[in-house]
Amino acid sequence: MSNLKKRWKKNPSNVFAFYPFAEYYNRFFMKVALVTGGSSGIGLATAELFMQAGMHVYAASRNIRSEIRLSANGGKIYPIRMDVNNITETKNVIERILTEYGKLDVLVCCAGNGIAGAIEDTTVDEAMYQFETCFWGMVKTINACLPVFRKQGYGQIVTVSSVAGIIPIPFQAYYSAVKAAVLSYTKALAMEIGPFGIKCCCVMPGDTKTNFTATRRYAENSKKNTSAYRERMMHAVGKMERDEQNGMQPEKIARCILRHLHRKEMPIVIIPGIDYKFYVLLARTLPNKFVLWLVEKIYL
Ligand SMILES: NC(=O)c1ccc[n+]([C@@H]2O[C@H](COP(=O)([O-])OP(=O)(O)OC[C@H]3O[C@@H](n4cnc5c(N)ncnc54)[C@H](OP(=O)(O)O)[C@@H]3O)[C@@H](O)[C@H]2O)c1
Repeated sequence: MSNLKKRWKKNPSNVFAFYPFAEYYNRFFMKVALVTGGSSGIGLATAELFMQAGMHVYAASRNIRSEIRLSANGGKIYPIRMDVNNITETKNVIERILTEYGKLDVLVCCAGNGIAGAIEDTTVDEAMYQFETCFWGMVKTINACLPVFRKQGYGQIVTVSSVAGIIPIPFQAYYSAVKAAVLSYTKALAMEIGPFGIKCCCVMPGDTKTNFTATRRYAENSKKNTSAYRERMMHAVGKMERDEQNGMQPEKIARCILRHLHRKEMPIVIIPGIDYKFYVLLARTLPNKFVLWLVEKIYL
């Protein structure tokens, strides 16, 4: 059986699979996406779901963990080496996408990491590390894509923040701060790029079971016995890490992203999960002092 026939048998709704120019159809009509942090967790789940939806996805990360993959309906994942903090690497990847497809439809900024520790125990350099990838890396990637989207007259950008950007958590102050920055940045971006046909939204997941927990760094001083915060910090972050590992599957966040990309109007803020929507609603309506008291009760 020919490849095209096999492809059609697996997905009969894809009438183009039988079309003699199926490959050209794929190249020009399938959506092309760049997903940063595409080798693990939410980024990997998003890249895989996009591929299953027939999209061609460049999954960018510093370490390549898989080969090029193909789905039955013509979707593809190209794992690609790219450090979001390296402007040259980012520009090269965008150029490669434009050479291979002549367009870019979707950018999802998932690359990220976390640092924990009391504010007093965290040096400015360590705090800057938190902002480097999660904020400036995202900014550099978006800056490289905006001229492309503007020239095309379309494009969709998804940034990944966290519920911690709305409800800050103790001993992850810089993580909470960077995620609040991502939210504000995305809202301002939406107002600027709207007239050019470009849309953006900010996804704010709660606890999600990924490698994020294992790759979290701790401020050096916070690990020392001399830290006045050590015990409370270990207790709070320990609880947060257990919650992450018992949290949502990254595929749930990916489905949420894809569903909203298909909508004519993307919302500016997406909070996956009914429970987290409820917590955010409470945080936005209850007095700040009461919300902080609740967070302390949960973690401290
Ligand atoms: N897990 C949660 O509970 C949770 C909750 C809310 C929000 N989030 C956010 O979701 C995003 C994704 O996190 P995750 O949970 O999926 O974590 P993850 O499984 O650790 O994935 C992080 C990804 O980012 C990549 N990455 C890190 N630094 C990079 C850099 N400089 N350049 C390019 N890629 C880089 C990693 O690959 P390499 O190391 O190979 O580069 C990896 O693919 C993060 O922004 C995180 O803050 C996570």
